[in-house]
Order: sequence, then C-alpha cells, then structure tokens
Amino acid sequence: KQAAICNITWHPSLTRHERNQLRGQRGFTVWFTGLSASGKSTVATALEQHLLHIGLAAYRLDGDNVRFGLNKDLGFSEKDRNENIRRIAEVAKLFADSSTIALTSFISPYRVDRQVARDLHASASQAGDDAIPFIEVFVDVPLEEAEKRDPKGLYKKARAGEIRDFTGISAPYEAPEAPEITIRTDQLSVEECVRKIVEYLAEKGLVT
Ligand code: PPS
Repeated sequence: KQAAICNITWHPSLTRHERNQLRGQRGFTVWFTGLSASGKSTVATALEQHLLHIGLAAYRLDGDNVRFGLNKDLGFSEKDRNENIRRIAEVAKLFADSSTIALTSFISPYRVDRQVARDLHASASQAGDDAIPFIEVFVDVPLEEAEKRDPKGLYKKARAGEIRDFTGISAPYEAPEAPEITIRTDQLSVEECVRKIVEYLAEKGLVT
C-alpha cells in the first residue's frame, strides 16, 4: 500500500478559507445514520430542498444511489460496509471542502466507521485550514416501527431468510452515543425534523 503512494505529493491549491470567501458559503457535512426505513433519505432530501431554496449549495449522497455507481463493487458484509462508508466520507469531505453542504444518508451501522468519517473531517488540510464541521444526525426509530413501514419489503424478506446480513435483523446497528442531533421520525413530521436540524445549524453559525 505504501509503495503505491510513495511517488505522489500533495498539490497545494486555494485554501478552504479562500474558497469559502469567494463562494460566500462555508462547506460542512451533515451525516445521517439510522436503520433502513428510519426516514434518513426523506429528511435529508427535505433538508437539501430547504438549503437550496434559501440559496445555499447542497448535495445529498444516498445509500441506494451510490451503490449503483461509485460503490457498485460493494455488498453488505462488515468489510464492504466499512469501505462503503470510508469512500462516502472521503467524497463528502471533498464536497464540503468545495464550500458545498454535503448531506449523506447511509445506514452507516458501525460506530467505528462513523468515527472514521468524523476524524477525516477533523483533520486539518495540508494548507493548515480549520477542520470541516461534521454534524451527525441520528434518525432514531424503534426497529418495530421501521419494520412496520418496510417500504421496500426488505424486512419481510430478511425475516424470511431471503436477505443475508440485514441491518437490525441479522446484522448489527450500533446507535450513536453522542450524536449532535437526534430526530424521532415517528414522533415529529418531516418539516419538524428539518426545522430541528436547521435550528442547530443556525445556532452554530453554519447557516443564517
Ligand atoms: S451501509 O450499511 O451504510 O453500508 O448501507 P447503505 O449503503 O446505506 O445501503 C442501505 C440500503 O441498501 C438496501 N439493502 C440493505 N440494507 C441493509 N442491509 C442489507 N443487507 C441490505 N441489502 C440491501 C436498503 O434498501 C438500504 O436502503 P435504506 O434507504 O437505508 O432503506
């Protein structure tokens, strides 16, 4: 692995600060995590629409969609999910580095993977820039509720043994211990969830 990277050097470019100034916007990542059918994509899409509507550049990376392209070589074993999340974290960081708001909606079931994503954003760039803000949003619904919703019929198939390693049934979901935000999509409407996130972002001075 080392040999593969020994002849490359980091290419200096604009600093993130300069880019943010020129674009009039600060990039950051909002990382949604939760069970399948918890509402991650629904809330992330509504948040994306809201941010675009108020004139901010935002882009959502979605579990199913990314697996059609960038990560089409990956399945759902623990090792593949580690790699899935590592790549997404790198891509989100690039979007955020370009002064865009990156929204990611992936189950991201392993704490260690979400920590990798967080650490990646926390590490200052070669140019000595500040860390990129990383906001973890736990989309928290009881498994029974997600299973009741089952919009794609996947829980039913998992219970019938037709899907292996299904999160919450035959593969683990490690709930976040200290997420920046928790939303209960079985108790709040989509609009209320978006408002809760936007209020947090405004409090932190990330959106106005
Ligand atoms: S992960 O765990 O973060 O790597 O998963 P992710 O990339 O978000 O992909 C989750 C979507 O893939 C579908 N799917 C499965 N989910 C969980 N476990 C298994 N075994 C599985 N097989 C397919 C499912 O539609 C997930 O979409 P969401 O939107 O979360 O329901």
